[in-house]
Amino acid sequence: MSQPLRLGIAGLGTVGTGVVKIVQQHAALLSARCGRPITISAVSARTRHKERGVDLSTYGWEDDPVALAKRDDVDVVVELMGGEDGPAKASTEAALHACKDVVTANKAMLAVHGQELAELAEANGCVLRYEAAVAGGIPVVKALTEGLAGNKVTRIMGVMNGTCNYILTRMEKAGLSYDEVFKEASDLGYLEADPTLDVGGIDAGHKLALLSAVAFGTKVNFDGVHLEGIDRITIEDINRASDMGFRVKLLGVAQMTGRGLVQRMTPCLVPKGSPLGRLERATNMVVIEGDSCGQIVLRGAGAGEGPTASAVMSDVIDIARGLRMPVFGQPATSLADAPAATSAAPAPFYLRLSLLDKPGALAKIATTLGDVGVSIDRMRQYGHAEGSAPVLIVTHKTTRDALDQALSRFDATGVLAEQPVAIRIEEV
Ligand SMILES: NC(=O)c1ccc[n+]([C@@H]2O[C@H](COP(=O)([O-])OP(=O)(O)OC[C@H]3O[C@@H](n4cnc5c(N)ncnc54)[C@H](OP(=O)(O)O)[C@@H]3O)[C@@H](O)[C@H]2O)c1
Repeated sequence: MSQPLRLGIAGLGTVGTGVVKIVQQHAALLSARCGRPITISAVSARTRHKERGVDLSTYGWEDDPVALAKRDDVDVVVELMGGEDGPAKASTEAALHACKDVVTANKAMLAVHGQELAELAEANGCVLRYEAAVAGGIPVVKALTEGLAGNKVTRIMGVMNGTCNYILTRMEKAGLSYDEVFKEASDLGYLEADPTLDVGGIDAGHKLALLSAVAFGTKVNFDGVHLEGIDRITIEDINRASDMGFRVKLLGVAQMTGRGLVQRMTPCLVPKGSPLGRLERATNMVVIEGDSCGQIVLRGAGAGEGPTASAVMSDVIDIARGLRMPVFGQPATSLADAPAATSAAPAPFYLRLSLLDKPGALAKIATTLGDVGVSIDRMRQYGHAEGSAPVLIVTHKTTRDALDQALSRFDATGVLAEQPVAIRIEEV
């Protein structure tokens, strides 16, 4: 029989134990598919004697994940601890210095250190794989680097944080406020220890930065991702946007333009009937547009033990089969710098205003928009209550700069009952 591929797994939490289960439960299937067995030599976690629901008794144990990475009986280090730096980065570097391949699910580490780790891996003839780091169980890195490799990618969009999509869709269905659903999500254990990673768009922004690098052949540039979280989205925005045929999503968009690389992870409106608009609960979706393939829509579980372990195993299986590829689909030293675009492409916007019950109030708003070149596509006014009335406006395509000019002039009209809300409408 061919030599087994011997894993060292650092991190035995949700994903790590999921990987152990697949290796144990599907041993025959994996061996048949790879033409060689996949085995586990040793594992590492913080606490040795913790019940994890899997039998670890036949594996070696290391308290230190760096020591695990250096073991002679480990061919591939599977890093599933998480964290930008610390033991995750140290053990990844130790493995690559020892000319061992690495599989990781760690988007935070790669979004920040991806370029240097890719250069180190490739200089040492190693592969560094991270399918599980982006959209959990959805094989999107593979789709870009293999199935769609013949395309020039024109745009990538994605809902890539299940917790945010859960919060937004739950608010809509149950008519609850952001704070109420945030607490619910927290009680259910859906939020990261630092919830701003989820609701602030940081976790999804990490994923978008990795996809951009693969799609556009650029160095990972997480600092270039324009981030806005969902914490200022109100139930009123969700309901009013729905009246106009839209749903609110925390949407990532990456696009190479003449002005530079656009990368944004912000709340956007998408048409209710579109694939992104129909996305419910914690499900993820990635939409890839290529010049030859047109639009490809990938949908599935973006997190959780099974889906994430499935993605980790797809990388392990590729290594067992001898499939090797540059980290970001082309040699790391050939990746271009990716200066962030200085301005976003024009788009339609949704405006929610609360106007005082004064004669000519609406006309003043329309004139102000017209003065800065923003034209109105659709408008809806609701009845007055307590001296003010909600007004919804959908603009034709305009720039954010023009819209900001209009917003700053609204104050002077003296007809606003509260600060207006403006949300970009993404054409999908
Ligand atoms: N959970 C998901 O659905 C999901 C989805 C996509 C990607 N990911 C990524 O997958 C990675 C792991 O996530 P997870 O949810 O499995 O995390 P987790 O449940 O918190 O598990 C982390 C594991 O790492 C171990 N660990 C932490 N610090 C360590 C150290 N200094 N030395 C040795 N071991 C250490 C912990 O040990 P103890 O158990 O002893 O505390 C634990 O077993 C992260 O990068 C995450 O972003 C997770």
